[in-house]
Amino acid sequence: MSSRIPGFYRLGVAERRQRLAEIAGLGEGALAALDDGGLDEAAADGMIENVVGRYALPLGIALNFRVDDVDYLVPMVIEEPSVVAAASNAAKMIRAGGGFRAEVSRPVMIGQIQLCDVADPDRAVRALAAAEPEVLARARKVVPGLVARGGGPVGLEARVLSRPGSPDGGMVVAHLLIDCCDAMGANIVNSVAESMADFLAQTAGGRVGLRILSNLCVHRMVTVRAEVPAAVLAGDDLSGAEAADAVVAASRFAELDPYRAATHNKGIMNGVDAVLLATGNDWRGAEAGAHAYAARRGAYRPLATWRRSPAGLSGELSLPLAVGTVGGALHLHAGARLALAVLAASSARDLAKVAGAAGLASNLAALRALAGRGIQRGHLALHARLVARAAGATGDLVERVAREIAALGDVKPARAREILSRLRVELDTGPVSLLIE
Ligand code: MEV
Repeated sequence: MSSRIPGFYRLGVAERRQRLAEIAGLGEGALAALDDGGLDEAAADGMIENVVGRYALPLGIALNFRVDDVDYLVPMVIEEPSVVAAASNAAKMIRAGGGFRAEVSRPVMIGQIQLCDVADPDRAVRALAAAEPEVLARARKVVPGLVARGGGPVGLEARVLSRPGSPDGGMVVAHLLIDCCDAMGANIVNSVAESMADFLAQTAGGRVGLRILSNLCVHRMVTVRAEVPAAVLAGDDLSGAEAADAVVAASRFAELDPYRAATHNKGIMNGVDAVLLATGNDWRGAEAGAHAYAARRGAYRPLATWRRSPAGLSGELSLPLAVGTVGGALHLHAGARLALAVLAASSARDLAKVAGAAGLASNLAALRALAGRGIQRGHLALHARLVARAAGATGDLVERVAREIAALGDVKPARAREILSRLRVELDTGPVSLLIE
């Protein structure tokens, strides 16, 4: 299966669906799961409370992705124009350098148990360390199914947060480390943390406080690297080498300035979140983890950086990422299940790799555009297509109307309707200018 589908963007939605079903090897009618926004009303009613309806967002497919020598069609759900096109574009540049390389750590999450009123915090930390084998043995019994699948509790850590005599009194936090296999793990981790809290409090000589997972899942990391040949970066009056230098300067800007780093990281999360949303994963958890990780050394830093390399440009993104291919919203959301089928990720590890790759591609696309003529031109062209469609243009007319309103700098429905009427007359009768002559 190749993720290169030239001309995909030019097809209508029905034709795109057909091509996608063929290429991804989905059964006849599989994409009908999306007709209802991927979620029927009864399923929505079972998902959250006080449901009054469903709220749809576009699902697009980013192309050209190759990660560790495997091609992926990448489903993305997002309301912002340009993100899918930009990610596809950057993935094509990275493909020219051999594609993305990714590393994913074991899917180990942290369950935090807050222990309060601890009379001797230092002794408590030592007691918890000594009790680790017994704590893990007991904790494994809480999740026998997970243990049978090769996961389960794998470690216990403890830290002193405050000492008696301070306003917070003696406070210790215990971290139960749990391998969640292919699940995102929130329910698993919270259940184990709740079940084990009393035993940990007894061991520490304190009182149970909160028992909840940490979204700063530093043991569950994804790192994605990419090499980009300078030649494919050329354009917008910049040579490949100049463009590569400009991307490095943009990366340095983010490394030196937290105001820029926030926007730089937002661009990365455009890609990551869109994949998470498409596959029914908790993107708020990923956001919380990513930004906390970005600030882990006390200053807020970019999650991805770029440097010149012999070939042109080399980039690296690292972030904590908890994603699942089982559990969560997946049992209710047919659209998310379909997105996973399109992605054909065989495990949560593969999904994490691809989400990371989408993040790095989005970052490269943004930096390359910003280093050149800026992002507004691309946005305007896409927006013009939307306006042309909204004015009633279909088929080839979408592109023609969009081009005219963009060239006029008047990307408004009224102007699009006017141009559309003129083009329709021309189609029936030949160009208007000829008629007048
Ligand atoms: C817009 O959604 C994302 C960008 O602002 C990211 C960036 O500036 O790097 C273009």
